[in-house]
Formats: sequence, structure tokens, C-alpha cells
Amino acid sequence: MKNLSEREQAAVIFSRSMVLIAIFFVVIAAMIISVLMGSERPALTTVLVKQNVSESLPVTDDYTWKAPDESTIPMGEVGEEIRYGKELISNTAKYLGPKGSVAQIANVMNCQNCHHEAGTKDFALNYAAVKSTYPQFKARSGTLVSIADRINGCLERSLNGSGLDTNSKEMLAMIAYMKWLGKDVPDRIRPKNAGIMKLAFLDRAADPLKGKVVYLGKCKTCHGNTKNYPPLWGENSYNDGAGLYRISNFAGFVKNNMPFGASYQHIVLSDEEAWDVAAFVNSQPRPHKDQAEDWKDLSTKPIDFPFGPYADNFSEEQHKYGPFEGIARAHKN
Ligand code: HEC
Ligand code: HEC
Repeated sequence: MKNLSEREQAAVIFSRSMVLIAIFFVVIAAMIISVLMGSERPALTTVLVKQNVSESLPVTDDYTWKAPDESTIPMGEVGEEIRYGKELISNTAKYLGPKGSVAQIANVMNCQNCHHEAGTKDFALNYAAVKSTYPQFKARSGTLVSIADRINGCLERSLNGSGLDTNSKEMLAMIAYMKWLGKDVPDRIRPKNAGIMKLAFLDRAADPLKGKVVYLGKCKTCHGNTKNYPPLWGENSYNDGAGLYRISNFAGFVKNNMPFGASYQHIVLSDEEAWDVAAFVNSQPRPHKDQAEDWKDLSTKPIDFPFGPYADNFSEEQHKYGPFEGIARAHKN
């Protein structure tokens, strides 16, 4: 500013100051707007997650799901399909069981026996993450799995039956219901309260004998009566290829849901009781499923998968009952 008069210098300084002040206000305004629009944050997370689409495992977020109110199911054909899907989930055996009115392809159980309240209850195997995370890569089959494939997986294993035609009215209705349940969940997000809440490992093997004591004291009054309650084992129960046959799934499910009336906010069983009763129930006889085609890549078998061969040197016995800490550590290395 050497060649400028004092007046000109003052003018330059003044205009530069104005520019700085203007920038200052723009920054402050941007900060205020971003605070006010706090709801932008999950969207941003979604964008970041979407860039990582090659990661096929569902992404867990701090998103908590709430099932939409049933009264908001639309009227007309679309709504009818959703309602039929819900009815099939709640009263499966009536339509698909041994005396099913549509087909006889499954056992006496209903999807709802495990997916409580038609798949809407927190940590009771709800369907919160179905729309947002399927199709997804599954290590069990080594393939991309659609919602229809996953439903047939439960029909073949949890209901010890056979799958439905992918384009059947029943399959399309169940898919429509699940998509409606998950309609507000951002893509690729697995809500916090979806599925099963897993328990911390015990530092010992789960003990079927201790579990029998839990069963006799806290389960048998209902489950001993298989006319009125779903069976926990035997020919009408889930087969040994089902998700509940893995004791980490069983323990996590039962802890937050059994005895009937329990929930994650109202827990009855201790962790030990849940693990031990899981060991007891999954030591009882049940239908067998040929699983020779599963887990082609042995290193992806879950640590509590009870059938070898394994990619590690732990026994079938330890993979079934634990202790799991050592196996988990070996798998991380
Ligand atoms: C005996 C219990 C049981 C029954 C009955 C059952 N399921 Fe499942 N289902 C499970 C378990 C356990 C899982 C989770 C398994 C896992 O992830 O390893 C599951 C998972 C699912 C999933 C995937 C959910 C997700 O978030 O990835 C769908 C979809 C599903 N079941 C649909 C059904 C339908 C439809 C029926 C009835 C035709 C049914 N299930 C019956 C136990 C059951
Ligand atoms: C008061 C009765 C009652 C008691 C006690 C009870 N349950 Fe259940 N249980 C139910 C009912 C009812 C369902 C099915 C829920 C539905 O269809 O909505 C169920 C479902 C289940 C299921 C999933 C379906 C199946 O049959 O595989 C498991 C596993 C289970 N209970 C385990 C247990 C265990 C373990 C105990 C003891 C710690 C226990 N329950 C105690 C009533 C009971």
C-alpha cells in the first residue's frame, strides 16, 4: 500500500475488514443451520456407508427402530397383501403346516413363535433390518441371499419343511409385510434393536445339567405342554440346521424373551441361566438337516457352529458349548 494515500489505505483496510466480517457471519450461519438440522446426521452416515457398498455385511448404526402402527397399513390391494403377510407370519401352521389350507410344507410352528408379535418386538428376532439389508451376502451359503431365500431358509430349518415358490402369493405377501415394517429404516442400516441381543461369553462351557434345572423350574410349565405351546425339541421342533440350534442365538433370544412376558426391559433369567438352558435344550433330540452344502469356506463358520470340520483345532464339543473366549481370540488372530 506504499503508493496509496492515507485515505485510500483506510478504504482498502475497511473493505478487507468487511469481507472478513461477511465470511465470519456466513460461517456462524452455517453452524447454526447445521445444529438446527440435527436430523441431517443419519443421512450423512448413510452416505458414508453407501460409499462402502462392497462391504456386504449389514452396518449397525445407533438407529433405533419402531414398528409402524398397524392402522397405517394402506387400504386397497397393497394393504391387503401386507395384512395377509402378517397373518401368515402369525398363524403359519394354519396355512402351511401339516394340515395347512394352502400347502403342507412345514411343521406345527408359526414364524411368530420365534419372531414375536409378528416380528415387531425389540430383540425378539424382529424384521427391522430385513428391508434395509437384503439382498445380502451370507457366508453359510456363500451367495447373495434375497428376502425370499432367507424366508425359505427358516421354512427349511426353523420349520423343518420345504421352501415356497419365490413368486407364490404367500411369499410375496410375507415380503410385502416385512418391507412395510422396515420402510423407514435407512438403506444398509441394521437398527440397534433388530434381531437378537447377544450375551457376553461365560468363562466356562455352558452346562446342560445346570440347564435342565432351569428348564424344570422356569420353562416346563408351558413348554412341557406342546398342545398349547411351541415345542423346544422333538420331531415338531426346529432342526439342527436352524439359527436357534446355535447356543449363542438361543441364549440371547431366551434371555430377552423368556419365560413368556420377559423383555429386554424386564429380564428374568441371568446370563448363566440363559446359556445353560440353551445347552440343555439343544442337547435334546430334534430333526436332522443335511448341511453338507453349507459353509464351504470353513473360516467363516460361526464360533458356536456345532458341526465340524473347522478351520481351527477346537473340538466340536467346545464349538457347541464353549468356553468360547479362546475360540473367539484364535479367530481374531
Ligand atoms: C424356531 C425359531 C424360528 C422360526 C419358527 C422362524 N424363524 Fe426366522 N429366524 C430365526 C432365527 C434364530 C433367525 C436368525 C438366525 C441367524 O441370523 O443366524 C431368523 C432369521 C429370519 C430372517 C432374517 C432376519 C434378518 O434380520 O436377517 C427372516 C426374514 C426370517 N427369519 C423369516 C422367517 C419366516 C417368514 C418364518 C416363518 C415361515 C420364520 N422366520 C420362522 C428363527 C426362527
Ligand atoms: C408362560 C409360558 C412360558 C414359559 C414359562 C416359557 N415360555 Fe418359551 N414360549 C412361550 C410361548 C407362548 C412362546 C411362543 C410365543 C408366540 O408365539 O408369540 C414361546 C416361545 C419360545 C421359544 C421359541 C419357539 C420354540 O418353541 O422354539 C423358545 C426357544 C422358548 N420359548 C424357550 C423358553 C425357555 C428356555 C423357557 C424357560 C427359561 C421358556 N421358554 C419359558 C411360553 C413360555
